[in-house]
Amino acid sequence: MDAQLKNQTVLITGASGGIGSAAAWVFAAEGARVVLHGFRNVDAARQLVDELNKAAPRKGADEHPPSAVALHADLRDEDQVETLFAEAVRIYGRIDCLVVNAGIWNSSTTPIHKMSLTQWRETLDADLTSAFLTCRAYLRHLAAVPREDASIVLVGSTAALFGEADHADYAAAKAALVYGLTRSLKNEIIRLAPRGRVNCVCPGWTDTPMAHQVECDPAAIDRALATTPLRKIATPEDVARAIVFLSSTVLAGHISGAILPIHGGMEGRQLHF
Ligand SMILES: NC(=O)c1ccc[n+]([C@@H]2O[C@H](COP(=O)([O-])OP(=O)(O)OC[C@H]3O[C@@H](n4cnc5c(N)ncnc54)[C@H](OP(=O)(O)O)[C@@H]3O)[C@@H](O)[C@H]2O)c1
Repeated sequence: MDAQLKNQTVLITGASGGIGSAAAWVFAAEGARVVLHGFRNVDAARQLVDELNKAAPRKGADEHPPSAVALHADLRDEDQVETLFAEAVRIYGRIDCLVVNAGIWNSSTTPIHKMSLTQWRETLDADLTSAFLTCRAYLRHLAAVPREDASIVLVGSTAALFGEADHADYAAAKAALVYGLTRSLKNEIIRLAPRGRVNCVCPGWTDTPMAHQVECDPAAIDRALATTPLRKIATPEDVARAIVFLSSTVLAGHISGAILPIHGGMEGRQLHF
């Protein structure tokens, strides 16, 4: 099925990481132009850009920008977010789809009675404030460059759906993004783009650098998959394909406000004391 994303411009935050880079490959395979955002590891996004542009060089590349570019920003900083979008628009003229994917997960197991305010603030800044600033910049872009269609896909987590003991900072940030942002913005975006859509994917444990920190613990894997009938950790591509599906007007044009779990049928978390 043709997702009709050819020549659409997609900005992916956190494209230097596992899920973001997988999404970049799937969008690029559909013929989209991709703006790959990275922060501390922006070199990984730059390397990915080289690979994508080699795999699918753009015709007339001398006169036109290449099909993929990498840009740097700390998404907790509003000026850097505004500059990221201004630069993407300078290069490609418009952004058709946004993937709000950047985030952190603090791997230390910290019940809330032992959690520092510093950790709480760091997680909310990196996972929620960054999403607010990214969505705000995109909606400002829509206000400035009118069009019929637009799409935002936010990357939440099963932590938002089931909670996550010892990681309440992450679960709270993701729940705000999944329920508060997704469901509010789906009703705001249509004022700026009448067919604009906002959706959210909620991956369970996914095989990326973020999860490698605990993947070496077989007991943790057992606990994570205890209520998962498919009995596997997601691949980044499992998540990436769902993101691309939701971004496509032709495939998902009547889907907005959806919260799509990508967790192999997971029904909750096994308690461990
Ligand atoms: N892996 C999982 O099991 C899992 C499960 C559920 C949900 N998720 C969610 O999926 C998303 C992608 O995660 P991943 O697994 O692909 O992790 P990852 O490989 O660690 O990638 C995380 C990305 O977020 C970026 N980022 C972090 N803090 C940032 C900041 N302040 N400003 C800008 N960028 C920042 C990182 O950029 P740099 O590296 O360049 O700094 C990186 O590109 C996250 O939102 C995560 O919460 C992951």
